[in-house]
Amino acid sequence: MTKPLEGIKIIDFTHVQAGPACTQLLAWFGADVIKVERPGSGDVTRTQLRDIPDVDALYFTMLNSNKKSLTLDTKQPEGKEVLKKLIKESDVLVENFGPGALDRMGFTWETIRELNPKMIVASVKGFSDGHHYDDLKVYENVAQCAGGAASTTGFWDGPPTVSAAALGDSNTGMHLAIGILTALMGRQKTGRGQKVAVSMQDSVLNLCRVKLRDQQRLDRLGFLEEYPQYPHGEFSDVVPRGGNAGGGGQPGWVLKCKGWETDPNAYIYFTIQGHAWAPICRALGKPEWIEDPHYATAQARQPHIFEIFNTIEGWLADKTKFEAVDILRKFDIPCSPVLSMKEIANDPSLRASGTITEVPHKERGTYLTVGSPIKFSDMKPEVTASPLLGEHTEEVLEGLGYSREDIVRLRELQAV
Ligand code: COA
Repeated sequence: MTKPLEGIKIIDFTHVQAGPACTQLLAWFGADVIKVERPGSGDVTRTQLRDIPDVDALYFTMLNSNKKSLTLDTKQPEGKEVLKKLIKESDVLVENFGPGALDRMGFTWETIRELNPKMIVASVKGFSDGHHYDDLKVYENVAQCAGGAASTTGFWDGPPTVSAAALGDSNTGMHLAIGILTALMGRQKTGRGQKVAVSMQDSVLNLCRVKLRDQQRLDRLGFLEEYPQYPHGEFSDVVPRGGNAGGGGQPGWVLKCKGWETDPNAYIYFTIQGHAWAPICRALGKPEWIEDPHYATAQARQPHIFEIFNTIEGWLADKTKFEAVDILRKFDIPCSPVLSMKEIANDPSLRASGTITEVPHKERGTYLTVGSPIKFSDMKPEVTASPLLGEHTEEVLEGLGYSREDIVRLRELQAV
């Protein structure tokens, strides 16, 4: 089956998570992704949090599938020559080095454009160009704090809290992938490449837009009616942390189910969607709440929303999270069990769809990873193993016209 990005050649100058998540996605969809890594060490995630001695860590294998690995010291003149050749025949260069690193190597945007005017150079940085923090190196949680996620996540009586979801890293990589695909479409019209830049702060903020909405509502009204702080608590002049309250205007909470005393994930998320109030009351055996003026509207319910949640927890006490959802789904109530990673790893539906998939690897045996969350009618993205360090060095150099002798010479110089 032909994949849509077949024929697109990508120099993957990325490391850790934000950049690799982007190029991995493009590789699944058919791009020829060549990961350029420093000889001897490679991407730092190859050795981070290893679970098997001397074998690439899962952090690396789960973010670098479907790629080739070329070792290249791009600070040496001979390494730079190889990179120049590669730039001349590639479509995209993706990087997420610290600020200025690519320029210091001698590969400024102007230089790259001169070598190949069709080249798209795509970068992830912590902060956007010209931002007063644009010299900072940034990791995941730093970005979550800078993008507004941490100040609005957690409970009102606790500190700002970061999410386990990689809002700063993988999310930024997904934004970059959209930017690259847009630039490729643009190139079809103009024949020119361009520079695509995404900052981690901006990408986090893009997912926090309802919190910026709330700041403006708070400025105007002095309260936020859907937050647990309303109507009894206090509001300051900044958007508070709302615990597990629903962000979109539908009240909801994480509620205990049977077994919560010993199982840390025996919970469901329960949403009280306005139109579902009557079915909720029927499901709970509280039909009298349907017409009761203290319960009948969202506004009437809000002052005693936690009393309602307590009643629902009473109903849930003899039901597992799966039993509860099986009942509630019949009443059209939006809800879900709180799933542990162990449950997700073994979920038959996620396995069947390829979202959770097993990949054979030359050195570690089979490992589990997250496959493409994007599904197509004409293509099933296949996940293949991440490359060993330098596994494709010879193949790539030969493709660039280097002879066996040249390759040996480059090896001796430790340029590859
Ligand atoms: N050959 C020779 N040198 C190489 C090389 C290669 N193949 N690949 C990288 N290098 C060099 C770089 O040129 C740089 O050298 P310099 O600083 O002397 O100019 C050096 O390796 C270190 O790069 P850097 O990216 O700054 O690494 P770091 O470990 O200090 O910082 C980050 C890591 C992630 C904090 C930083 O890269 C960063 O802020 N990136 C942008 C934001 C980002 O993507 N963060 C999240 C990642 S999940």
